[in-house]
Amino acid sequence: MPPQTPLPELEEALREIERLRAELAAAKVSASMANAACDAFFDAAAQSLRTPLHVLMLQLSSLITGPAAFDVPAQLRGKVASMDRQVQHLARLTDRLVDVTMLESGHIPLRRSRLDLVDLATSSVGRLQEELLWAGCVVQVRAPSTLFVEGDPVRLDEVVGNLLRNAAKYAAGAPVTVALERAHELARVVVMDNGPGIPSHLRSRIFDKFDRGNGPTGTSGLGLGLWIARQIVEAHGGTIEVEDAPRGGASFVVAIPCLAANAG
Ligand SMILES: Nc1ncnc2c1ncn2[C@@H]1O[C@H](COP(=O)(O)OP(=O)(O)OP(=O)(O)O)[C@@H](O)[C@H]1O
Ligand SMILES: [Mg+2]
Repeated sequence: MPPQTPLPELEEALREIERLRAELAAAKVSASMANAACDAFFDAAAQSLRTPLHVLMLQLSSLITGPAAFDVPAQLRGKVASMDRQVQHLARLTDRLVDVTMLESGHIPLRRSRLDLVDLATSSVGRLQEELLWAGCVVQVRAPSTLFVEGDPVRLDEVVGNLLRNAAKYAAGAPVTVALERAHELARVVVMDNGPGIPSHLRSRIFDKFDRGNGPTGTSGLGLGLWIARQIVEAHGGTIEVEDAPRGGASFVVAIPCLAANAG
């Protein structure tokens, strides 16, 4: 027969467990309050930065393409264009922080309509063409004639844009392919690059909020692009994953339900 634990010691151990449990619950409450305060701070800071930045953006763009452009001396045009790029970058960062609080609430207001993913991806590539070429990435789009889904065009464009910007940032100097295809009831958008790829142990982590993987040197970012992409794709009932590209880079695969009326 095993030696019996004396009753008072058992009672003492139970009291200790109870005390620790209460401490843990209190710590959880204060951690979630701190989290909520942090989110509220992010939101308030980003919201108040957003308005003046957008005003600045409008004014700069009027100096580049508006009637006032003629008054800008030639030697200042390069500087104005560079200020415009920086302000646009800042505006994107603040938009991202506003996005975090909204996406985190789990309620993503999607404005869905029937849309052609081929059109959408082609125009995302066109919009980012300058940035991609500047990074030395020539983009090839491989697609059927149409691929219809029921989705939010602005949000899905954000997903494709985040993947393309990552390719320009982490796989600069090499071609990128955007492939669209239908696989049974899913529409797939695959963004493949020829960069260093993502080691398998980091593949699930990089979709987490603020995670920057190995923290590649010489690049900046908040570690939010893939997290935002995942929230949007999941809100569409889809998935996003990364695998090895055929020639060794990263291959990001977005799959969302497609509409029955697709050809092919
Ligand atoms: N195409 C890619 N090739 C190699 N590594 C990548 C690629 N895309 C993403 N990563 C890795 O995944 C991490 C997370 O990407 P994510 O887009 O979420 O954040 P970020 O690019 O660091 O910052 P942000 O998108 O907020 O500006 C990156 O920091 C990088 O380490
Ligand atoms: Mg990114």
